[in-house]
Amino acid sequence: MALDDLYREVILDHYSHPRNKGTMDDPDIKVEGANPLCGDELSIFVRLVHGKITDVKFVGRGCSISQSSASMMTQQIKGKTLDEAKGLVGKFKAMMHGEPASEDELGDLMALQGVRKFPVRIKCATLSWVALEQGVDEFQGSHQKVVAKASTEAE
Ligand code: FES
Repeated sequence: MALDDLYREVILDHYSHPRNKGTMDDPDIKVEGANPLCGDELSIFVRLVHGKITDVKFVGRGCSISQSSASMMTQQIKGKTLDEAKGLVGKFKAMMHGEPASEDELGDLMALQGVRKFPVRIKCATLSWVALEQGVDEFQGSHQKVVAKASTEAE
């Protein structure tokens, strides 16, 4: 199977069977993210125990790219510290903006690199990541539960 087909399958699999989809009671971090280009919105919920992400969920509407990216993100950040999660945000955003990426670090997320060919869709792929980053930044700044808002506008 060609690599492009494999990547397409990964994206469709996460879109049709999203992992960690749903809401969460009393999360430590909640962020409502929006992509002003299309009006799609997606919320992320994070639970922390002793500084590690023990649970993460997302809900929202959006295209296959935004939904699959959020699904893959939730899988990959579970078990990470906030700084580790932010490191992954940086690597993913760098890949989406054309930097070389490694499968060791990004795993299934590599499937989204084809989106780079369609600049308007890059914000679809980064929507959940921009939201996560904003929520983590606000949490680390305040050291208490946060409800944040994020937008891909400045990306
Ligand atoms: Fe709205 Fe992709 S078209 S997030």
